[in-house]
Amino acid sequence: MSLLEPSQLERLRAARSVVALTGAGISAESGVPTFRDAQTGLWAKYSPEELATPEAFLERPRFVWDWYVWRRQLTSAAQPNPGHLALVELAKIFPSFTLVTQNVDGLHTRAGSTDVVELHGSIELTLCFDERTPVSENDYVDDGKTPPRCPRCGGLLRPGVVWFNESLPPAALARAERAAQSCDVLLSIGTSSLVHPAAGLPLLAKRSGALLIEINPSSTPLTRHADAVLAGPAGQILPELLRLLSSPKSA
Ligand code: OAD
Repeated sequence: MSLLEPSQLERLRAARSVVALTGAGISAESGVPTFRDAQTGLWAKYSPEELATPEAFLERPRFVWDWYVWRRQLTSAAQPNPGHLALVELAKIFPSFTLVTQNVDGLHTRAGSTDVVELHGSIELTLCFDERTPVSENDYVDDGKTPPRCPRCGGLLRPGVVWFNESLPPAALARAERAAQSCDVLLSIGTSSLVHPAAGLPLLAKRSGALLIEINPSSTPLTRHADAVLAGPAGQILPELLRLLSSPKSA
């Protein structure tokens, strides 16, 4: 199977700087449900406004906390899949490789990727809602009934993820934007390209002259802007791409 046109493969081979932007789809094959896929998506049961906003949390802190406890159990039991692992290897091929993720599951780091730019925070982190400072899990009590409280100020504890109506971590966003603006190739992998500002990064790269490759079994608002669309699961396509790049004969 030919994944890319010869001229595109040539551009990828010659790339000095590559950005991979991942979304929930890359963890789907690890058994972590995506947000928006019909039936299996978590959002099919709850709307984002019910669970993933500061307002919803303040209204029903225990309910929202419990949802994240469940998701944390799910993600900590999940294992990185061949898609995550292929990205670790791809990073070694190019002089500069920036992995930017919208995922909070930590699976890229567990697969062996280093220096991952986490745009939406991490589910493994717990923060004081008021102070915004991290709180270690050994330092608070969760009785399973009332919302856990900050041991310092008594404020509510929350997961260290970015919610709707909240800003992204400025340093992570700035780094992602800089990388997108200056890359030769951007791979958009397993994201519905619906949530901004992350969804704007591939277009920023394209406007700056990069080759834009989308890897997703379904089409998204980004598809019509992509130079190449590799329509399939990331756990298959990324290892194929790696094989292609590792083997000089297949050019
Ligand atoms: P979505 O759930 O919106 O989209 C997942 C995408 O993955 C869809 O386009 C699927 O077609 C695709 N997909 C499914 N299985 C795949 C596979 N095996 N390989 C490749 N692609 C696959 O997830 P995100 O785009 O990540 O934000 O959502 C963006 C943000 O919206 C999330 O980070 C989260 C959510 O609200 C916050 O929590 C702040």
